[in-house]
Amino acid sequence: MKIDILTLFPDMFQGVFDESIVRRAIDNQLVDIKIHNFRDFSKDIHKKVDDTPYGGGCGMVLTCQPIFDCVRSLRQDDSKVILLTPDGEVYKQSKAYELASLKHLILICGHYEGFDERIRSICDACISIGDYILTGGEIASMVIVDSIVRLIPGVIAEESHLNDSFSEKLLDYPQYTKPRVYEGMAVPEVLLSGDHKRINDYRYQEAVKKTRISRPDLLN
Ligand code: ADE
Repeated sequence: MKIDILTLFPDMFQGVFDESIVRRAIDNQLVDIKIHNFRDFSKDIHKKVDDTPYGGGCGMVLTCQPIFDCVRSLRQDDSKVILLTPDGEVYKQSKAYELASLKHLILICGHYEGFDERIRSICDACISIGDYILTGGEIASMVIVDSIVRLIPGVIAEESHLNDSFSEKLLDYPQYTKPRVYEGMAVPEVLLSGDHKRINDYRYQEAVKKTRISRPDLLN
């Protein structure tokens, strides 16, 4: 899978994609991630990428030209172009599975007070990572990349994400490891029983209980 990210702040991505599972996926050539500064595509003599809004108002608005040209230099027949914006469709695990199956993803990070509405015309979809406002789409695109890279076949064992919270509309069941008792808190006996039917039943019940308490909306 190939992922191109368009941003004005390429340095923000340093470190995030240099560690852990994403780094390993890149090293094993399971994903190719490229960061592009769309300022490099500005035809303005001062490499400007924004301007004042028509109709007045405070702040600056990202202009079409650098983003259009950058997307056009990258887009292929099988590319999907996504704009990160708080007014997009709210991101869910089901969308992560959908995006992980694509060959080529182009993520555009919005910034400043906003972007020229016509930028939406070169996008296939708009995504928000939640009902809050970030300073830009960079962190949102990191969230999306992280959540899809781990689903790419070969990146982690498939059974590790089949039980994930949200995969079956239930939160994940609680996990325990050694020691058996820590500061007076004991691991539930059933997990030490070796009886896989009982263990699976217990885990299912715990997942339902946790979901009912933390996210009852998922059960409706
Ligand atoms: N840009 C600013 N806030 C955002 C959000 N919540 N999701 C995606 N992009 C954003």
